[in-house]
Amino acid sequence: MTLFIVGAGGFGRETYDAVLAAGDSTEPVMFCDHALAGEKTRGLPVVHPDEVDDDFVVAISDPDARARLSAGLEGRGLTPRTIVHPRAVIGPETVLGAGSVVLAMAYVSSSCVLGRHVQISYNTTLGHDCRLSDVTTVLPGANVAGSVHLATGATVGSNAFVRQGLTVGAGAFVGAGAVVTRDVAARTVVVGVPARPHAR
Ligand SMILES: CC(C)(COP(=O)(O)OP(=O)(O)OC[C@H]1O[C@@H](n2cnc3c(N)ncnc32)[C@H](O)[C@@H]1OP(=O)(O)O)[C@@H](O)C(=O)NCCC(=O)NCCS
Repeated sequence: MTLFIVGAGGFGRETYDAVLAAGDSTEPVMFCDHALAGEKTRGLPVVHPDEVDDDFVVAISDPDARARLSAGLEGRGLTPRTIVHPRAVIGPETVLGAGSVVLAMAYVSSSCVLGRHVQISYNTTLGHDCRLSDVTTVLPGANVAGSVHLATGATVGSNAFVRQGLTVGAGAFVGAGAVVTRDVAARTVVVGVPARPHAR
């Protein structure tokens, strides 16, 4: 079998770090990235998306691109692989969906449900009973308290905090360093302490 890491950018390479740390060095790994096809990343071949023909993980931060690419590959009958760095902690009764990635020093507490193609970056915490819908993203250093719901495609930025029991709506984006004290409406960007809608 070959594992294809879709996206040869920063998160793709960090996902490869997690694969290496997990220690299965016998399995071939390739990157897939239409912009870098034919080149090499970390000494590994980079292929075009059309050439992916085995298990894959989409390691692209943008949730819309992640959803589109994973749907296309799954539509071709390919299987998404879940990658967990061995230095991440996954609590009892927590379930990770297919295609999700959890990097080093993430602490995902007990009884959480993570959907498909979720990305949990390094130095993050998720409290107990969190529910993360498909293609959600928790960026480095963010702290999500217990029983929070991140709806489909929501992102929590670096070093942000989301108070317990709140909902971050579908496609919403919590800016870096924000402290979220109220539910965040769908497709809204919030920043600051306390977090408020971001005037662009
Ligand atoms: C919230 C965010 C999406 C806004 O992006 P943007 O619309 O491109 O914002 P801009 O950089 O154009 O900044 C617009 C204004 O918002 C302010 N601003 C931007 N991000 C902010 C944040 N997180 N908190 C507070 N203010 C912020 C800027 O200072 C600027 O203010 P000014 O007009 O008074 O100078 C982005 O700044 C952010 O926080 N992204 C998350 C980054 C992250 O976590 N990266 C991790 C990578 S691994």
